[in-house]
Amino acid sequence: MDSQSLPVPPLWLARLVLHLKEVITRCRLASHRLPLVSTGSLAQPVGLLDTEASPEEVVVAYHERTKHHFQRYAASLGYMDWATQPDPFRRYQGADLVRLPLLKAGRPLAYWQLYAPGTVLPEPLSRESVSLFFRYALSLTAWKRFQESTWSLRANPSSGNLHPTEGYAILPAIEGLGERPAVYHYAPKEHALERRAILDAKAWSEFCAPFPEGSFLMGLSSVHWREAWKYGERAFRYCQHDAGHALATLRIAAAALGWRLVLLDGVSEKFISGLLGLSRGDDYGTAEREEPELLAFVAPDLSSMFQRGLNESTAGNTGALWCGNANTLSPVHGVDWPVIDEVAQATRRSGSAPITEDFSDFPEEEELFGTPVRHGLLTAEKAILGRRSAVAMDGSTAISQEAFFRMLARLIPTRDGRSVPWDAIPWRPRIHLGLFVHRVDSVPRGLYALARDPGKLAALKEVMRREFRWQRLPSCPPGLPLYLLQEGDCRALAATVSCGQDIAGDGAFSLGMIADYMDSLTTYRAAFYRNLFWEAGMVGQVLYLEAEEAGIRSTGIGCYFDDPVHEVFGIASQEWQSFYHFTVGGPVEDTRLTTLPAYNFEEER
Ligand SMILES: Cc1cc2nc3c(=O)[nH]c(=O)nc-3n(C[C@H](O)[C@H](O)[C@H](O)COP(=O)(O)O)c2cc1C
Repeated sequence: MDSQSLPVPPLWLARLVLHLKEVITRCRLASHRLPLVSTGSLAQPVGLLDTEASPEEVVVAYHERTKHHFQRYAASLGYMDWATQPDPFRRYQGADLVRLPLLKAGRPLAYWQLYAPGTVLPEPLSRESVSLFFRYALSLTAWKRFQESTWSLRANPSSGNLHPTEGYAILPAIEGLGERPAVYHYAPKEHALERRAILDAKAWSEFCAPFPEGSFLMGLSSVHWREAWKYGERAFRYCQHDAGHALATLRIAAAALGWRLVLLDGVSEKFISGLLGLSRGDDYGTAEREEPELLAFVAPDLSSMFQRGLNESTAGNTGALWCGNANTLSPVHGVDWPVIDEVAQATRRSGSAPITEDFSDFPEEEELFGTPVRHGLLTAEKAILGRRSAVAMDGSTAISQEAFFRMLARLIPTRDGRSVPWDAIPWRPRIHLGLFVHRVDSVPRGLYALARDPGKLAALKEVMRREFRWQRLPSCPPGLPLYLLQEGDCRALAATVSCGQDIAGDGAFSLGMIADYMDSLTTYRAAFYRNLFWEAGMVGQVLYLEAEEAGIRSTGIGCYFDDPVHEVFGIASQEWQSFYHFTVGGPVEDTRLTTLPAYNFEEER
């Protein structure tokens, strides 16, 4: 639709845009400058709550405190302290480094096969398959150069490209990798595994007895400081987003090898910490510590017998022999952000029964996609390694209705529980989308909602603006829970609420992820605060890859004004909160940058 034939926006929408513009102008006049990234005033390092608060109260206090407002960004340093910039690469000095081979030929797998697990024959566990797994999940994918500066990009994206997420694998004996089961830390710059600990073979085989042959464990941790260095108090949110993106890259990498991967959601923080060696204070000394995030189980095939719980007491005694000392990432820390430690503490899991939820009312693949997708443009490898964030959108590229519906359909779990990457997590979606549609052929511009859990449609209708239409598009596949809320031009609105970032208005569409927040904290307690961000990150990762496949690009948007987003959708209650933004569209390439290969060492066959 061209701008000539646009419908007149409803009065409330026009008023809202005007109101937001006025507020922004006032804030600009007051502060002389509206920054794109967080530059809130330096907050006093006080605790989140003075009294003996419950973990859930701490979470709510943290979430409120770290909102961006038009007149005040969440607290951060306010400038880039280059002298203390953290090293993006953790290394463990003294640990053996086992290089992983890079196979030139790549894997001849079509992109669509990532989402059709039955079509990929499982690869046996070997040095080569482990190498591909890490290559697709967490490796470097390019180096970029501009004038004197170079920086690397990875398969997993990261807020500010700061990469707080560290990856670990607990692998059995594998020829060419290690003769004994071991705990490895992944070193992305070298595409190598650092052997942090050798495990007692007998203890390990007892622990693994219930698991299928060729299984292993993957762990993720976060270095909060890497994000806090730039983003201050809001950094905990970004670390969680990044962990969610990485969980999706892990699941998708496993899918490329014909493997399954599931989050072990009931495992305690203490257990993860012990297993990955993160609790070994002496190995860190004064170096930055890592916060345990999650543990996932990877297997060529997860038999129905497999329980997502681990027997933590048997696994606790692995007879590990540790080696290696963590490097220091910044020479000094200008400012520390104690509220991050508080919210981290409040959201640590103490071990619980795995979540089991029923998906029987979810759509089948046919209902979601019409015809299941069994063709496409790219190989899986091209989409995974070629994924990039757009730094700007062209303001003109439109996408087809089919591409739009397909991208959204990928975000919905199917009834059979086999849709990738949603088969990695056991809870029904708690992240829903509020969409700003700008340029999709034959789809009216305006605000839309995607209720990712069909059971939450009524609750979303209840919480959003009364005047919304909740109208189905005639051409939309029957199982895709997409609703037109209000027609109109939302380009300025989308950019305004995304911290004034033009990418949110210049794409084909952008969106806010609305979390079923309070109910999640009530049902699954404070630790689930992290899971909400992980789910949001997973949604983002699927959109990143889908955009590649559609020949366009996308970008995660962590900088948005929380409450103004709620105002757009008429959400007055604190029950539902905006957790992440995303934009998808035709990118503008930055031609000033030179792209260099990720790795220049010898490629093996
Ligand atoms: C959680 C998260 C938040 C992000 N927020 C923004 C943002 O607000 N604005 C933006 O332009 N890019 C944002 N990005 C994109 C990152 O800057 C980008 O991922 C990073 O520079 C690495 O580039 P790559 O995605 O091409 O690997 C975000 C990415 C993530 C994962």
